[in-house]
Amino acid sequence: MIDISIKQASVVDQSCDLLVLHLFQGEKPLEGAGGAMDKELGGLISQLLKQDQFEGKLGEWFIFSTLGKAKAQKIAVIGLGDRTKFDLDAVRKIGAHIIRHGRDAKAKSVMTVLPGMGVVDFSTREVAEALAEGLRLGAYRFHAYKGKSFQEKEKLDVKQVIVCERERGKIAPAERGLVEARILADATILARDLVNTPSMEMTPKKLAEVAQSLAKRGSGISIKILDAAKMEKLGMRAALAVGKGSQHAPVGMHLIYRPKGKIKKKIAVIGKAVTFDSGGLSLKPADGMMTMKCDMAGAAAVIGLFQALPDLAPNVEVHGIFLAVENMPSGTAYRPGDVVKAMNGTMIEVLNTDAEGRVTLADALSYAATLKPDVMIDLATLTGACVVALGEDISGLMSNDRKLAERLLLAAKQSGEGLWELPLFEPYQELIKSKVGDIKNIGGRSAGAITAGLFLSHFVNKIPWAHLDIAGPAYIEKETRPDVPYGGSGSGVRLLARYLQGF
Ligand code: BES
Ligand code: ZN
Ligand code: ZN
Repeated sequence: MIDISIKQASVVDQSCDLLVLHLFQGEKPLEGAGGAMDKELGGLISQLLKQDQFEGKLGEWFIFSTLGKAKAQKIAVIGLGDRTKFDLDAVRKIGAHIIRHGRDAKAKSVMTVLPGMGVVDFSTREVAEALAEGLRLGAYRFHAYKGKSFQEKEKLDVKQVIVCERERGKIAPAERGLVEARILADATILARDLVNTPSMEMTPKKLAEVAQSLAKRGSGISIKILDAAKMEKLGMRAALAVGKGSQHAPVGMHLIYRPKGKIKKKIAVIGKAVTFDSGGLSLKPADGMMTMKCDMAGAAAVIGLFQALPDLAPNVEVHGIFLAVENMPSGTAYRPGDVVKAMNGTMIEVLNTDAEGRVTLADALSYAATLKPDVMIDLATLTGACVVALGEDISGLMSNDRKLAERLLLAAKQSGEGLWELPLFEPYQELIKSKVGDIKNIGGRSAGAITAGLFLSHFVNKIPWAHLDIAGPAYIEKETRPDVPYGGSGSGVRLLARYLQGF
């Protein structure tokens, strides 16, 4: 765990392993802290940067040893990119670059300043928050299953980051930013850990236990456990059918957060919680199964969010719901051709047991709708089709409510998560009409993400609802952002937090 703090000081006379200075693209000479340090070293930094043809592109890195000429053992300059394109997401990326390069440089203590201050319209609090978020999320590694040699290496990781700020008035707001970053990053990291933990351990029971552990006394969070017997009683035959092939019994969870003050809205967040998706009898090919421990990432986001809610304390009542199951092939598994009745009475014809997420969500959404929330939002690693359409960096958004969609798009922009809207195109309902039951769980090759969304729309009882298909971003196989390392990404956690803070 890195210790991040703010200190009222000039970077020039501070000792540390590594001092990181900042430079906008194409801008010379160094200004502010960088300028002061350069002057102290008799123009050495600017000479070195010139020699290296340093351009200042976002994340560009130049590092050198000071050989005792400064109190910092090493000094690095990081590029801030184009000044006109600079925003909080750039700050977040810079935080992540600093921590990752700092680790490579074996620097245990790092010192830097708030990037781009005085340039952007953002407040000190926001800049400090984005920087710290980037530092924490960029530092993340899942090491629970690593051996001894890794632990030795880890001892050289960055342990401390001190942000120097000379203006006294900026210290308090910066500190508030650091606190908020900690809450959001920890919540995201919890979701990442849950996704990264192999399915052999992260069973439905285990997932429910983690959720249960959040309901501590005084936290404002309470829970209802929906075990298999309770699910049966509620008529959740669809979700139960998906779990039938597994040795692990299904278990559902209903988390409730009630704010201390006035309640502005009642919002339900529902997560897909398939702890492993083998495809069931419609078995996936080996390659398609390799990352399917990630198929509970929707629920992981809900759990992460709930960890943060008591600290964030938004003025909304939040209901978090997931029905955890494992999708396995066996003699007791549900079959293609089976017809199951969901909690709201809809008859679902299962034609492919690998389209199981929507079958479990049918009951989770039906249940959520009975709570009569003002808004329902589900997060699900639902379709490969959405990954084909939008890639690993962008989640799909589908909604029956314009205002809700706009709010979520804004929240995603603020949290630095990719989100793009796809239409819930009503004429495509034809594609999922069933000859045997009411609807079938597959709609053919085209518009796979949309037909999945349309399937879900049958269970929301006309309540304003949004569906986030996070199949791409939930698990990162090819890194494109320094703050989102390989594996579970915790996508959705900060987006939801931002959305709830908007009330
Ligand atoms: N869990 C998968 C979707 C998925 C794919 C998530 C890739 C993350 C990465 C889902 O249950 C699934 O298997 N969907 C099928 C649906 C098809 C059978 C209609 C798919 O997308 O191929
Ligand atoms: Zn599947
Ligand atoms: Zn799945």
